[in-house]
Amino acid sequence: MLDIEKKINDLLSEVETTSLNDEKELESFRIRFLGSKNILKPLFGELKSVPNEQKKEVGQQINSLKQAAQQKFDGIKESMESSSVDKERIDFTRPGEPVKLGARHPISIVRSEIISIFERIGYGVSEGPEIEDDWHNFSALNFPPEHPARDMQDTFFVEKDEREMALRTHTSSVQVRVMENNKPPIRTISPGRVYRNEAISSRAHCFFHQVEGLFIDKDVSFADLKQTLLYFAQEMFGKKAKIRLRPSYFPFTEPSAEVDVSCTICNGEGCNVCKYTGWLEILGCGMVDPNVLKASNIDTDVYSGFAFGMGIERIAQLKYRVNDLRLYSENDVRFLEQFKSAL
Ligand code: DAH
Repeated sequence: MLDIEKKINDLLSEVETTSLNDEKELESFRIRFLGSKNILKPLFGELKSVPNEQKKEVGQQINSLKQAAQQKFDGIKESMESSSVDKERIDFTRPGEPVKLGARHPISIVRSEIISIFERIGYGVSEGPEIEDDWHNFSALNFPPEHPARDMQDTFFVEKDEREMALRTHTSSVQVRVMENNKPPIRTISPGRVYRNEAISSRAHCFFHQVEGLFIDKDVSFADLKQTLLYFAQEMFGKKAKIRLRPSYFPFTEPSAEVDVSCTICNGEGCNVCKYTGWLEILGCGMVDPNVLKASNIDTDVYSGFAFGMGIERIAQLKYRVNDLRLYSENDVRFLEQFKSAL
């Protein structure tokens, strides 16, 4: 073995065996093996005096020594850096920060519940635009031209002196769209936001939410309507719930009725929530007026149907005893947090 080869071997075993425990030791290793005056440089000088036939081999040995030193340096440097980053960023003894969970909004909770109650008896869900034309919001629903609901006082029109487009005042507009685009039998509910030009108070708001229901088929009777609403009331408020229908008027239904549910608080005994009547109003309904069916080209000799409409806020109020409508849109976390445990 040549002298130079022995030196290379010694240095190689030094590279392999030295332990580098901190940055200082790593730095002196770098200077010794990789710095500008490193210990390998004189070896290249000595290479000149190696016999020609061995030059190539010895040259390769010096190169692998250099590579081994570089690799050792890189490896140790990387592991030192990553462990120092870990030390800075992760303190495993630190107590965890609790994740703040949100809650679903009561309107969303009640809307999903209404949808799932009707889905169980075969109703689909349909939606329509919130900015609606006169035809779908009023005319096709048999509102006479002079009907007060079209008045400026109730309706937000989009243009100042123009009454063609408005924010829909009810989700009954979606009925019309569904009838225009589908052939009976039709069984659908349409949840959505509606707007009325009302002063905001605990009992009225300029926007709120409704769910519209529509059922059209051959031989649909008022008894079907009544049974559907009883099913709904008992699913929503409990098996003991009773309903009662009072005659009423809506342009789009004939006959029309308003529906009360037995008071959810006193079960009909009489209390201050039901004003000692035992009943709470929950929705409007009726048999779809033939004029409405005709406006959407449905053959009134073959088909009949019923419709109903309810306010989601009203149902939520009865379920959760919320007696101020403004709470639903104020985003007060103290109010919203109370619904964490609900569905
Ligand atoms: N659209 C009515 C309202 O906003 C509610 C309503 C009543 C809808 C009777 C209906 C119905 O479909 O048959 O007050």
